[in-house]
Amino acid sequence: MSLGIELNKNIPETSSSTSDETNHMNQHNQRKELIDANYHTLPRLQVSAGRYIMNAAMVRYPALLWKRPGLALTTATLVRGLTTVRVLPTTSVQQHRRVTSTRWLSTSPVESFVPAPPPGTAGTPIFSDVDLTSTSADAELRNTDPNAVVCVTGANRGIGLQVVQQMLERTKGKIVACCRQPQTAKVLQDLQKDYGSDRLALVALDLQDDESMKKAAKEITQFSNGRLDALWNVAGILGDGGKTTPGPERSISQMDRSWFEQTMAVNVIGPVLWTKEMAPLLWHRTKRKRKTDKDAVTEAPPRPAAVVVNLSARVGSISDNGLGGWYSYRMSKTALNQATRTMAHEFKRQETYCIALHPGTTNTDLSKPFQANVKEGSLFPVEFTVSQLINIVDSMTAEHSGGLYDWSGKALSF
Ligand SMILES: NC(=O)c1ccc[n+]([C@@H]2O[C@H](COP(=O)([O-])OP(=O)(O)OC[C@H]3O[C@@H](n4cnc5c(N)ncnc54)[C@H](OP(=O)(O)O)[C@@H]3O)[C@@H](O)[C@H]2O)c1
Repeated sequence: MSLGIELNKNIPETSSSTSDETNHMNQHNQRKELIDANYHTLPRLQVSAGRYIMNAAMVRYPALLWKRPGLALTTATLVRGLTTVRVLPTTSVQQHRRVTSTRWLSTSPVESFVPAPPPGTAGTPIFSDVDLTSTSADAELRNTDPNAVVCVTGANRGIGLQVVQQMLERTKGKIVACCRQPQTAKVLQDLQKDYGSDRLALVALDLQDDESMKKAAKEITQFSNGRLDALWNVAGILGDGGKTTPGPERSISQMDRSWFEQTMAVNVIGPVLWTKEMAPLLWHRTKRKRKTDKDAVTEAPPRPAAVVVNLSARVGSISDNGLGGWYSYRMSKTALNQATRTMAHEFKRQETYCIALHPGTTNTDLSKPFQANVKEGSLFPVEFTVSQLINIVDSMTAEHSGGLYDWSGKALSF
């Protein structure tokens, strides 16, 4: 079996004038970059036992980094049913590591899926890319705080359900899964049994119904003790390729008032009004600091910046629109991108970041009617997509707030 990249061969010797430690760190960083760049092509070791599958990528480590050359597992993934657990290298392997950060080890995709490289964007992005190799201090706090609260819409299936699952695994806080009919959301109900109802709340939410939004907001305020650290606006509609809905419309002749209105209602008006309901729960550092405010807490506990994540689509980019078609969906996502940028300006004062994300064509009900001509590597397993999206949110900082990004962290033009 091929052993993939051989790290010694690819790393040039560093100057002898630098200290041993600096040399070592430089070489380590170059190796890390090399592994990251080649991650998808690394050979895998797969071991199954019962319902568990361990899937690990392998590299050959040189004598300099480890005591002697040999094979090492870079990262392993355990998959059990719908649950994915990441396993870091063994303690003995970690003992030889000279750096403290293990962030890069957890950015592995699921299984051995190799995504096609993201296409470039037509137009000029005005935001900088998100570097996925580092976790922000805010995300470290958010993910390890058992009192932190994440709310996800469209949580009963597709991308939303996977966000809930991965958040349960990757964070210690509470998760609120919002969907139209929690009473029939079997997977969510099973997750709630596994994780407990103090960790996962199921809340009924219809984004086209103001009453439903007000009721859901009350329930969440109670469950979360008035706190929200991350709001994932995932729910959205596209149509079924014209079978039973006019959407997505290929030509102006297919434009239909009620479908147009529904698309705008679910994809942009809904998320914006839902964010309005949730806004009082989002982090408000300035309020906490104001001495004259009698509700203000003088000794504020450490709390990370909050995030609003809007699931958008690159077809919402006007400068990137080289094909036409999909009128109402495109327009709804364009408006959502504008809303994201506008919110980012407003929420800056209260240290809440906003980001619009393009997940890539992901294997869910929404994309099913359009998958036939998708090229190899361009139809993403939902686990891969969501792992990438969470990595982006965990790596973003204030400078990215308001931007539109693809699944790889690349800034897209508006
Ligand atoms: N999948 C892709 O390839 C792709 C690509 C680009 C962007 N996106 C975006 O990613 C997001 C998630 O897509 P997905 O692929 O996960 O779609 P999906 O599998 O079709 O799921 C859509 C979700 O939205 C919910 N929803 C629809 N109308 C709603 C309403 N009025 N109120 C509350 N929830 C409602 C659905 O709930 P019900 O089960 O009750 O209908 C469902 O949970 C969408 O915003 C989509 O535009 C997806």
